[in-house]
Amino acid sequence: MSDGLQAPLSGRAFRDAFGAFATGVAVVTAAGPDGPVGLTTNALTSVSLDPPLFLVCFAKDSRTLPVVRDAGRLAVSILRSSQESMAARFATKHEPEHKFHGIVLDDLAGVPAIAHAAAVIVGEITEIHSGGDHDIVVLRCTDVRSDPDAEPLLFVHGRFGG
Ligand SMILES: Cc1cc2nc3c(=O)[nH]c(=O)nc-3n(C[C@H](O)[C@H](O)[C@H](O)COP(=O)(O)O)c2cc1C
Repeated sequence: MSDGLQAPLSGRAFRDAFGAFATGVAVVTAAGPDGPVGLTTNALTSVSLDPPLFLVCFAKDSRTLPVVRDAGRLAVSILRSSQESMAARFATKHEPEHKFHGIVLDDLAGVPAIAHAAAVIVGEITEIHSGGDHDIVVLRCTDVRSDPDAEPLLFVHGRFGG
């Protein structure tokens, strides 16, 4: 690392640096008035054990975000390595009916979730903070389900896989 003058930080450099931080991949879903909505995310982290809080970051122009705000609740389905096509599908700007076409959903405490996910975490929104071009949604976890033997889908250096 140089301690001299820094060039303006490019979005590419920022993404590349964070790309070295391997994450899982999840689909966030919520129940809207016209059916389920959802998007792919990896901006997900646990925040607190007592009370059990976690956060999810949404781009402010996400079409899923306003539905999530109104619903007040969402499910995070953490994907298995075999569910990569689902991650790609929910990362598109297609209409929700298209995203969910043929997708098998579970109902966890009244919230739609992706069936056969490695884990599902359901939460109620407690706070929303603005963070640049994203909103940071903090939730209190109300229900969880997980398969400790599931092999998770990974995302690193901008690619799915290990
Ligand atoms: C690995 C991965 C991680 C992503 N993480 C986020 C995220 O944290 N927040 C977000 O808003 N979008 C994220 N996206 C992009 C959204 O999935 C994508 O913009 C989607 O089209 C949004 O759909 P919507 O506008 O219908 O809500 C991610 C995409 C991928 C492939």
